[in-house]
Amino acid sequence: MAVIAKYCPDIKINVVDINKERIELWNDLDLNKLPIFEPGLSEIINFVRGKNLTFTTDLAQSIKEADMIFISVNTPIKKTGIGAGQTSDLRWVEACARQISDIAIGHTIVVEKSTLPVRTAKTIKEILFASKDNFKKEKSFSVLSNPEFLAEGTAINDLKKPDRVLIGGEDKEAMLSLKEIYLNWVEEEKIIFTNLWSSELSKLCANAILAQRISSINSISALCEVTGADISEVANAIGKDSRIGSKFLKTGPGFGGSCFKKDILNLVYLSRYYGLDDVANYWEKVVDINSWQKMRIYEEIVKRLFGNLVDKKIAILGFAFKANTNDTRESPAIDICENLINEGALLSIHDYKVTEENISRILDDKSKNCWHYCKDVYDALKDAHATVILTEWSGYINLDWKRISKEIKSPFWIFDTRSILKYESFKNLNVNFWQIGNGNN
Ligand code: UGA
Repeated sequence: MAVIAKYCPDIKINVVDINKERIELWNDLDLNKLPIFEPGLSEIINFVRGKNLTFTTDLAQSIKEADMIFISVNTPIKKTGIGAGQTSDLRWVEACARQISDIAIGHTIVVEKSTLPVRTAKTIKEILFASKDNFKKEKSFSVLSNPEFLAEGTAINDLKKPDRVLIGGEDKEAMLSLKEIYLNWVEEEKIIFTNLWSSELSKLCANAILAQRISSINSISALCEVTGADISEVANAIGKDSRIGSKFLKTGPGFGGSCFKKDILNLVYLSRYYGLDDVANYWEKVVDINSWQKMRIYEEIVKRLFGNLVDKKIAILGFAFKANTNDTRESPAIDICENLINEGALLSIHDYKVTEENISRILDDKSKNCWHYCKDVYDALKDAHATVILTEWSGYINLDWKRISKEIKSPFWIFDTRSILKYESFKNLNVNFWQIGNGNN
């Protein structure tokens, strides 16, 4: 919405949330307090906030005023009941549709922005059109699907220069109204119209195919380690084929983030629902390989530290699911840290953007007192028996290993799960090195 506000000064945008504290943070004069860290976001907020972008908790007034409403609530995996662990929990989407149905005035275009299971638009429509006043023709609705393809860490650039904008719907006029907004900065040929269900399904499939590439390269990383091949050379050679392309072939500790796993599981659920068990099994394997990758890294660490982690200090470098974000949802660091703690290790955790409070919300249920937070990366490494690099923050690439080597236990192990370090940086120092996908380990 900040980017839309920047490119469309004549459109007034209200961002509404029922969480008062979050809205207060979005309104805080100190831009360092914005609830989300995203490169470039605070500058845009600073520019548009109070002009044509406002943050408010006044839901009723905002719905009444709106010609177009973007439903952008979270849709996590359902925890209990039918489809638990696989399909999305739609309670917040449904609550939004009910509120819009009750409060809206005149004609309102409702846009699905949250990533949703296929055919959710049907649910939204049914709720909207069930509004008591509807038959009096005092209000009417059009429902569109406009999934978001931005990635965290590069969100602003992805929004400014999208590969495509997808608009799914049945009401041509409503689709054109939304297109009109994007035309303020996106080339016309990049704006695609589809039917509602194609739009919803395309979003799930785009994420599933991106995740599939990561699981493919991660599976090959293990093969490189045992055969003497090098995953970065293999990925480079594969990626030069213009039919394959070089992106999303970087091996790592497994994909994280709020979307990939959830979207694939939704695809699996949908396929099973329609009796397509082979299709479901195929996509499920992408998630299985992701779990396997995290598990094998943990096992590798235990094996190399003589099968025993009790009272050993391990420095964890990076807790975010990727660099340039403070988001920890589904971060591979979570499973790996929990498993290391379970072996008796004491973790010193460093991250450039994830806060101690955030880590404590995740780990403290099972693992209080088994980890501590370090603001300084060199403090985290002090007196450690090993370090595990889990996020590819650029700050970890050029650490002063000479300095570090003076204050570590011996033997000391570096586990580079992001393949960002160069062996030359510490080859004359007394440290052991394991790198993902490296046949020379
Ligand atoms: C992903 C998609 O890339 C976006 O297009 C989509 O809009 C978004 O999900 C969403 O549905 O919200 P995001 O999860 O923010 O974006 O970040 P990615 O860059 O896709 O990274 C996801 C995970 O895959 C990270 O853990 C990252 O480290 C890992 N990854 C990515 C790799 O291990 N290797 C790669 O080559 C690329």
